[in-house]
Amino acid sequence: MRTQVAIIGSGPAGLLLGQLLHGAGIDAVILERQSRDYVLSRIRAGVLEDGTVRLLDAVGAGARLHAEGLPHDGFELLFGGRRHRIDLQRLTGRRVTIYGQTEMTRDLMDLRASEGAATVFEAKDVALHDFDGSKPSVTFTKDGVAQRLDCEFIAGCDGYHGISRASVPGSAMQIFERGYPFGWLGILADVPPVSHELIYAGEERGFALCSMRSQSRSRYYVQCAADEDIANWPDERFWDELRLRLDPATAEALVTGPSIEKSIAPLRSFVAEPMRFGRLFLAGDAAHIVPPTGAKGLNLAASDVHYLSQALIDYFGERSSAGIDAYSAKALARVWKAERFSWWLTSLMHHFPQDSAFGRRIQRAELDYLAGSDHAMAALAENYVGLPY
Ligand code: FAD
Ligand code: PHB
Repeated sequence: MRTQVAIIGSGPAGLLLGQLLHGAGIDAVILERQSRDYVLSRIRAGVLEDGTVRLLDAVGAGARLHAEGLPHDGFELLFGGRRHRIDLQRLTGRRVTIYGQTEMTRDLMDLRASEGAATVFEAKDVALHDFDGSKPSVTFTKDGVAQRLDCEFIAGCDGYHGISRASVPGSAMQIFERGYPFGWLGILADVPPVSHELIYAGEERGFALCSMRSQSRSRYYVQCAADEDIANWPDERFWDELRLRLDPATAEALVTGPSIEKSIAPLRSFVAEPMRFGRLFLAGDAAHIVPPTGAKGLNLAASDVHYLSQALIDYFGERSSAGIDAYSAKALARVWKAERFSWWLTSLMHHFPQDSAFGRRIQRAELDYLAGSDHAMAALAENYVGLPY
C-alpha cells in the first residue's frame, strides 16, 4: 500500500488529523491496533474546549455534538463546605461543551467510513521504518498477513503506550515527567447529574469530581491511592466516599445507581521533546500526558493535530517545509502551558499524603484568594476554556 501520511492510532488525535487532511485532499491511512468496538468502549474525557468544537465543525463532525452536547457557561469549586462558581462566560466570553470522547470518536469514525477513507483496525505488530530518511514506511500484520505501507510522513497518534515514541532512539529525545501519589477512581452511571454544572471538590478527605455525559448519565471521580485495587470498591463504597467529599446539601441531592463502568486512572505529567524526528511527528498522548484535573488531554490532542495538519497542508500544497520545521516548537509552546495549568489545578485540589499542615493551609489560602478575586478567577477561566491557537 502507498499513502501520503500514515497515521498510527485511531484515537481523537489520529481521527481528527485524518479528517483535517482528507478535507485538504491529502491521502492518509490510519492503522489501529484495536478493534473499532474496543476503541469505542473506552470511557475517557468529557469536556471540549471551543477550539476543539470549532475543529470538529470544520471537518463536518459537529452535528451530533451540537444537538446532544451540553454547553456549560461555568463550573464550581467546592471547598470549606461551600460551592463557589467560576463564571466562564462572564470572565472569558467563552464556554465549554460536555460531550464524551467516546461520542466524538464515534462521529469521526462514522464520517471517515462514509467518505471511504482507509482505516485498518486490528493492525498488529506495527513497526516504523526509515523515518530519518526520505522514504519512510510502516509494516504491520493484518489477519496474519504481513503488509507494508509506504508513505511520505508518519503521524504517531498512538497514545502514551504506543509504538511511535518508542521507535525513536532515547538519545534523540528529552523526557520531562512528574508522578503524583494518587489516582482517580471513576464511575459511570445512568443517573441524573447532581448539579447542572461540574463540581471540583477539594475537601479534607481528598479530591472528588462530579461530571456528566448527558442529563441522564453521570461521571463521578474520587481521588484514590495510586496502587488502589478496584476490587475494594463496590458501588456502595464509592457512593459513600463521594458523599463524604461533598457539602451536605450536594451529598443529599446525589442520586446513585449501579455503575456501568468503573476504572482507575493514574495521574501523571509527561512531555517528550521534540515532537518531530525527521519524517515522524508525534501528536496527542504519544508526546505528552496531563493529569485529568484541567480536562486538557483530549483538547491538546486537538490543538496538536491542528498545527500538524496546517504544516502538512503547506508542505503538500506549496512544497514548503517551513510549517513542518516549526511544528514541534509551536505545539510544545501550547502543550507546556496546559501542562502548567493541569499541574497547578491538580496541586491545588488534591490531598497530598505527605503534605504538612502548612501545605494544607497554603492550598486553602489559594482557594480563598481565587474565590474572592476576579483576576485570579479570570486566569483559571481563561486556561479552562482553552488558550488560543
Ligand atoms: P489515545 O486516545 O490514547 O489513542 C491512541 C490510539 O492508538 C488508541 O486507539 C490505541 O489503541 C492506538 N495504538 C496504541 N498503540 C498502537 C500501536 N502500536 N499500533 C497501532 N495503534 C496503536 N482526559 C481528560 O481530559 N479527562 C479524562 O477523564 C480522561 N481520562 C482518561 C482515562 C484514561 C485511562 C486515559 C488513558 C486517558 C484519559 N484522559 C482523560 C486523557 C484523554 O483521554 C487523552 O488525552 C486522549 O485520549 C488523547 O488522544 P490520543 O488520540 O492522543 O490518544
Ligand atoms: C469527565 O467528565 O470525565 C471529566 C471532566 C472534567 C475533568 C476530567 C474528566 O477535568
